[in-house]
Amino acid sequence: MNQALSTQTLVAVIGAGAMGAGIAQVAAAAGHSVKLFDNRAGAATQAIVGIRAQFEKMAAKGKLAPEAAQAAGARLQTAEQIADLADAGLVVEAIVENLQVKQKLFADLENLVSEACILATNTSSISVTAIGAALKSPQRLAGLHFFNPAPLMALVEVVSGLATGPEVADVLMATATAWGKTPVRAKSTPGFIVNRVARPYYAEALRVLTEGGADCATLDACCREAGGFRMGPFELMDMIGHDVNFAVTNSVWRAYFNDPRFLPSLIQQDLVDAGFLGKKTGRGFYNYQDGVDKPLPATEPAQAVPLDAILYGHSPIVDVLSARLKAKNISFTHVMAAQGDTLATVGGATVRITDGRTATRYAAEKKTPNTVLIDLALDYAKATRLAISVAAQCDPVAANAVIGLLQAAGYAVSKLQDIPGLIVMRTVAMLANEAADAVNQGVCDAAAVDTAMRLGVNYPCGPLAWANTVGLANISTVLGHLANTYGEDRYRTSPLIQHHVFAQKALS
Ligand SMILES: NC(=O)c1ccc[n+]([C@@H]2O[C@H](COP(=O)([O-])OP(=O)(O)OC[C@H]3O[C@@H](n4cnc5c(N)ncnc54)[C@H](O)[C@@H]3O)[C@@H](O)[C@H]2O)c1
Repeated sequence: MNQALSTQTLVAVIGAGAMGAGIAQVAAAAGHSVKLFDNRAGAATQAIVGIRAQFEKMAAKGKLAPEAAQAAGARLQTAEQIADLADAGLVVEAIVENLQVKQKLFADLENLVSEACILATNTSSISVTAIGAALKSPQRLAGLHFFNPAPLMALVEVVSGLATGPEVADVLMATATAWGKTPVRAKSTPGFIVNRVARPYYAEALRVLTEGGADCATLDACCREAGGFRMGPFELMDMIGHDVNFAVTNSVWRAYFNDPRFLPSLIQQDLVDAGFLGKKTGRGFYNYQDGVDKPLPATEPAQAVPLDAILYGHSPIVDVLSARLKAKNISFTHVMAAQGDTLATVGGATVRITDGRTATRYAAEKKTPNTVLIDLALDYAKATRLAISVAAQCDPVAANAVIGLLQAAGYAVSKLQDIPGLIVMRTVAMLANEAADAVNQGVCDAAAVDTAMRLGVNYPCGPLAWANTVGLANISTVLGHLANTYGEDRYRTSPLIQHHVFAQKALS
């Protein structure tokens, strides 16, 4: 492994916008002298004023010694023109997201800096291979993809284009580590790791919304309270902005030659057309105008506590139900032997975890009309809400007994329309599917994809680790049923998941 650049190396940052300023702050805090250049008059000066204020704030909060804050601030200077960057040992570009403009900048830089100088681009969506193609020495260029805000987000994707020298990627990995970041290696492919693997988080929620599975507030609440995600997909899209999120989806979809995995949603197109771009315009999926309350998730009214529940075997949900019913002295029976995929029977209903079929189909195929399906939770002991779906054939009295059982165990219950795979399970299955394909296609390794999704978008668990916990065979079954229900290539199971299911091995 090559060494990190020494702190004696001058770092040039080009583009003093949101990302460039953040990257300059990180490099200066790590001990480098930093020159910041922007072609908009005054932009670099203004950014440095902001960064110094950040350092002072950190000192005031005791996160940085006052002398260290002062020294870090003093290591930053503006460059009046690009020629002033000639002595840089690393240049990080964070200018406008445009291939031709970036190519021209790097071609100019190549004629200016020393041969040893490493050139890095912070692009989030342009091919590093294509940017490098404009260089005489494309091996010296790599992607160094920070996440916003760069000083706070730990993840950096070190992206190799076709011509990137392995030693250049090694130095950037080591340097990002020395800067306090957690870098992961990625091959230059559309969306790199995070912007590709995250697509299903939005896409599955949009699909469920399109099909009337539930409203945004209910789906968001299930993703937060059962899935353990920090933000639900709709509130997150509203925060990112639909113009930005829709553009990324479109760009990844087009770049993969219209692979249906990434198919954009008409709902999001509509929001963009209407100018309902999310928080920044006061309206997106939610209305952010003053005085408008955020809608509450749909929650089932309280049902009577059933006293005839029978729990079967051991599984995360059964063990939680058993412990909680016991703690409340609610009478139930726990049969230790598993009974197929039946978790419980109560009030004449059979309760199972979703396997990607609708409850109605399950009821028909298993000849158990009173079927109620429960969604996946990251941790049933910590989840505060569970989504369920009820077969069309199910007697409402039996369904209410299941709701009463879950409520007695402390869960808020959201009854979704009978869509296949509910919301958390199908989202996790598709995140894992995309993560597995990224690994299978050599974009990154399994550890990198899980690290990237935890640190780049704050997922509570890496998608592959999560899939291993759920069981790859279960994930594969869910995907198979989704593919079968929709008849769409979008839900095809990654060959890597198939391989590991047959090999009976976890994916790591
Ligand atoms: N904003 C994000 O969340 C984010 C995250 C990761 C990566 N990125 C990528 O980082 C880059 C910058 O994004 P941003 O959000 O900081 O943009 P921004 O618009 O906030 O800043 C870009 C800056 O670059 C300057 N600039 C434009 N062309 C220039 C040129 N030819 N020479 C010198 N300066 C020039 C502009 O004046 C502006 O100050 C883009 O490639 C973007 O895709 C953005």
